[in-house]
Amino acid sequence: MPSPRKIIIDTDPGQDDAVAILLALASPEELELLGITAVAGNVPLALTHVNARKICEVAHKVDVPVYAGCDAPLKRALVTAEHVHGKTGLDGIDLPAPVMALQEMHAVDFIIHELRRHAPGSVTLCALGPLTNIATAFDRAPDIIGRVAEVVLMGGAYFEVGNITPAAEFNIYVDPDAAAIVFGSGVKLTVMPLDVTHKVLVDADRAEAFAALGSDTGKTVAAWTHFFERFDMEKYGSAGAPLHDPTVIAWLLKPDLFAGRFINVEIETQSELTLGMTVADWWGVTERPANATFIGDVDAAGFFELLTSRLARL
Ligand code: BDR
Ligand code: CA
Repeated sequence: MPSPRKIIIDTDPGQDDAVAILLALASPEELELLGITAVAGNVPLALTHVNARKICEVAHKVDVPVYAGCDAPLKRALVTAEHVHGKTGLDGIDLPAPVMALQEMHAVDFIIHELRRHAPGSVTLCALGPLTNIATAFDRAPDIIGRVAEVVLMGGAYFEVGNITPAAEFNIYVDPDAAAIVFGSGVKLTVMPLDVTHKVLVDADRAEAFAALGSDTGKTVAAWTHFFERFDMEKYGSAGAPLHDPTVIAWLLKPDLFAGRFINVEIETQSELTLGMTVADWWGVTERPANATFIGDVDAAGFFELLTSRLARL
């Protein structure tokens, strides 16, 4: 069996971030989690690093180091999403304050340090929130860009267009300048846009399957998804909560579940109307060079089978 892939999860939890982290923690044969780096996004940084530690404690994985990173986007005021995730970012079930300590090192320093410490091409960055920490690391230490195995991120949209504005998806909209740095860096990039994440919905049967695991983890995941499903159900008439961020981890575990295209994707950073739009050349109508594998489809049943069976291990 090959040795597990080393990953860093950069995140702004968020119930769907939480499920992604649990999926990674449940998969140690394939994934070695070097650390979790928190960023401001769904809620302010003061909550996201606390939430990251609460999530590790749900899984009884208290040895995972958690770092706090950037508390605001590179050039703009922070936009948050309490209207989706609740005032804590993890509403749906009351969890105790974490006993795990926050690491002293800044998240950006940790990312730089880990990429320099490990062999080139051996560390994958999983980005589940705005790209501020990763862009800051790339900007400050350009030597690490060539050492990254791959950035796999949840963000953007083409066919689904926007969720926070008519044109933009939340993670990219919050820090479009950071996204432009990452998409323009030349790093190997895989993107999970709304086009795919809106296809992995926690419908009633799937929620029941989480609860039926009978574990604290199963009940917690069912409570989280029940809380944040109302937003998409009211807005889109969806069958349940979209598990945006877990697609990033599922891609690392079972890429055959997904289909996409290697295309050019540019980030709009100028227009007020379309700020944060991912301009994806899905149809190949420009000569702009491809810079991202942009995923468009998923085997949703296979995704939930993977997720539920892995959560059963926690
Ligand atoms: C993304 O924004 C956040 O609300 C979710 O956690 C996800 O990362 C979806 O647009
Ligand atoms: Ca997120």
